[in-house]
Amino acid sequence: MHDASPQPLTATTGGPLRGTIAVPGDKSISHRALMLSALAVGTSHITGLLEGEDVLATAAAMRAMGARAERSGPGEWQVDGVGVGGLLQPAGALDMGNSGTSTRLLMGLVASHAITATFTGDASLSGRPMGRVIAPLSQMGADITASPGGTLPLMVRGIAPAVPITYTLPVASAQVKSAVLLAGLNTPGVTTVIEPVATRDHSERMLAGFGAELSVEQSDAGRVIRLTGQAELRPQSIAVPGDPSSAAFFAVAASIVPGSDVVIRNVGLNPTRAGLFRLLRRMGASIEEMDARIVGGEPVADLRVRHTDLIACDPDPADAPSMIDEFPVLFIAAALATGTSRITGIEELRVKESDRITTMVAGLRAIGVTLEELPDGLVIEGRGGEPFAGGATIASRLDHRIAMSFAVAGLHAGRPITVDDRAPIATSFPNFLDLLRSLGASC
Ligand code: S3P
Repeated sequence: MHDASPQPLTATTGGPLRGTIAVPGDKSISHRALMLSALAVGTSHITGLLEGEDVLATAAAMRAMGARAERSGPGEWQVDGVGVGGLLQPAGALDMGNSGTSTRLLMGLVASHAITATFTGDASLSGRPMGRVIAPLSQMGADITASPGGTLPLMVRGIAPAVPITYTLPVASAQVKSAVLLAGLNTPGVTTVIEPVATRDHSERMLAGFGAELSVEQSDAGRVIRLTGQAELRPQSIAVPGDPSSAAFFAVAASIVPGSDVVIRNVGLNPTRAGLFRLLRRMGASIEEMDARIVGGEPVADLRVRHTDLIACDPDPADAPSMIDEFPVLFIAAALATGTSRITGIEELRVKESDRITTMVAGLRAIGVTLEELPDGLVIEGRGGEPFAGGATIASRLDHRIAMSFAVAGLHAGRPITVDDRAPIATSFPNFLDLLRSLGASC
């Protein structure tokens, strides 16, 4: 997907960030919108779809399995579904690029269809653990052959009818939850997922929106989600809200660059996703919600973020799932805050697009931050608003969020900060640098 030669990116300190931007569509919701539309009977209309490489990998896979997915304008897509149970055998391997979400959710879909699909991906994705989805999908009857360590390339031989299971998530993962629920869609009877710690609930919301029979109940064991299989999904019109995980970079950038005043329009604020904004406020950030509304069944608002001095944080590990993708940029904020931040219970960061604890520790050290790496997190000595030393090149390790985090760091640094390769940013946020520049940033 990417050009093989790295394209470095350098960010330097300039004036305040000022202006209004709108972030692109939510990545998680975009994947699900394409998948469920491809399983509905009839034509669904999607607006605000994120057109990053990860989501385009999902679109290509749905086409390879028989759906029609066509773009009619920026973010505007029409999808003709094949009906639940109607996915066709793909002719070739499904190239998932860098996208763990595409891989794990599509493995779920394939598992309960009588088709076989091979999943391949880039170097980052090929190192990520798939055992967490292989285990429940195998219990449902799928036959999965993975590379050593339960990684890609792997082959899923689906089965129809699959066996409904009750599965308690051993890790707090919306991808695992969604893989089981999506497999349950074409499985007779009731598939049950129990999540001891709540994770993003976009799958549940959208399945219900498409007419699936789904219930959610709180029990002593956690959230119990029951899905009745072999449903007929009705086509929908879906407006995808802006991605809070993309907005996070701008919320932190405006908070740390003196004099900044930025409005980020159309930010999805589903409570299972909005943990970073809640934490930044506790750190003293000025984040004002304006025009709160509902878009595509999800809470949305415009956020006005102004520069303030931040204080250190000590987030509750139970809040980690609601900000799981935002930790890299939180570390940037914490490194500029006053006081010592101790951030633990985030060992899941080690199996993201890169090992985000080790990668961030190396990058932060290189730009002058004092910190300690823990097995499940890190301790960061805040610089009390003193700019990063900078003057370093950061290894982003094929990880879009590492690259964007250090671009933000460069906006408040004594010397420029270079990221070794900007190309991975296109997986989730193709116009990130354009938007940052439109606010006055030098990058
Ligand atoms: C996602 C779930 C999270 C998140 C990822 C998107 C999803 O992964 O990190 O970017 O869309 O379900 P995990 O389920 O591995 O926590």
